[in-house]
Amino acid sequence: MNIASPATWSAIFGLISALSIAPTQAAVETSAPNAAANTGATFEPPKEDDIPNTPFGNTIRMGRDIMLDTPKHAARFVGNNLSCTNCHLDAGRMAGSAPLWAAYVNYPAYRAKNDKINTYQQRLQGCFRFSMNGSAPPLGDPVLVALEAYSFWLATGLPVNKEVAGRGYPKLDKTTQTPDYARGQAVYTARCALCHGANGAGQSVSGRVVFPALWGDGSYNWGAGMGSIDNAAQFIHANMPYGMSYSLTPQDAWDVAYFMNAHERPQDPRWLGSVEATRTKFHDSTLSLYGQTINGKILGNTGAPKQTQTKDQAHIAP
Ligand code: HEC
Ligand code: HEC
Repeated sequence: MNIASPATWSAIFGLISALSIAPTQAAVETSAPNAAANTGATFEPPKEDDIPNTPFGNTIRMGRDIMLDTPKHAARFVGNNLSCTNCHLDAGRMAGSAPLWAAYVNYPAYRAKNDKINTYQQRLQGCFRFSMNGSAPPLGDPVLVALEAYSFWLATGLPVNKEVAGRGYPKLDKTTQTPDYARGQAVYTARCALCHGANGAGQSVSGRVVFPALWGDGSYNWGAGMGSIDNAAQFIHANMPYGMSYSLTPQDAWDVAYFMNAHERPQDPRWLGSVEATRTKFHDSTLSLYGQTINGKILGNTGAPKQTQTKDQAHIAP
């Protein structure tokens, strides 16, 4: 979903009026601060209209389309209802929302997650496997080539191998109180449920996702970056509620991130046969609730990975 797209806003208004909810003025105020506000970012990627009318331009456009509607344009590799732009806002352009231009100029890079040097395409594979709960496209697949071409084009004019303001999410200091389920639930009910639903499953209009799923089968899996409470708190503080960046206190952001990640979601595709073994190897951190007992249930205790999560991904870096 593109933040600037009138179709998106009309879908949101349609949904809101269909649900007979009065949107707060702030939520629809387009001049409200966005995620970029607190990042110090000065770089502006080129305008969409500047995509050249050449074969290369067509591939750039394909990359943009994959960002905006991933289940449609990269169907084979997607196992949930999300699109890249749900987490990389404005089709990967928004500073403070892990923009693609800032990422592109910083690969290849070492990643502790897989203890390897990752090329940009290998980094993209990771988002398919975990965030999209799908399978990683093979290196050189037209889907990865299009996303790489789009990112390259967005980064026009940026120096390579240099940290750039706006990359990732703005830092969010730890708060004095440790994140808490009950406080997070209260924030969720007051500030999130309207759009994402009381059950976290999101909402669709005529088969098109308007508000993406935060947990459950339609969301990211246990191996995803968003499953880490610090990433989620930072993303939420800078980007949510949608259209109301930086309106939550840091404590509210940590609490609601904890609450969101204290719910069940698709199995970690790196599953080692038991929750204990998988937690020990991949989730041995207070920032992951995988394998922890919440409300009497062990999170992640749902057996082997299902559906489109392919088992034959051992050759893939992530
Ligand atoms: C559920 C949310 C989510 C979805 C959906 C998602 N990502 Fe990500 N992505 C993340 C998070 C979280 C990070 C880590 C950000 C950080 O470490 O600052 C990330 C990181 C990245 C990075 C590296 C950023 C950097 O600065 O190094 C790229 C590139 C990327 N994603 C591309 C994609 C693409 C392409 C898709 C769709 C195929 C996608 N992502 C889908 C959440 C998501
Ligand atoms: C006004 C509606 C609205 C509200 C309220 C809202 N969101 Fe969102 N949220 C969205 C939309 C729309 C997107 C996708 C953005 C896009 O595609 O451009 C999104 C995306 C997300 C994502 C990344 C995608 C995913 O499904 O994982 C997370 C996480 C998230 N929201 C969490 C929250 C939390 C937590 C709150 C409450 C503090 C909240 N949102 C409040 C509309 C909303």
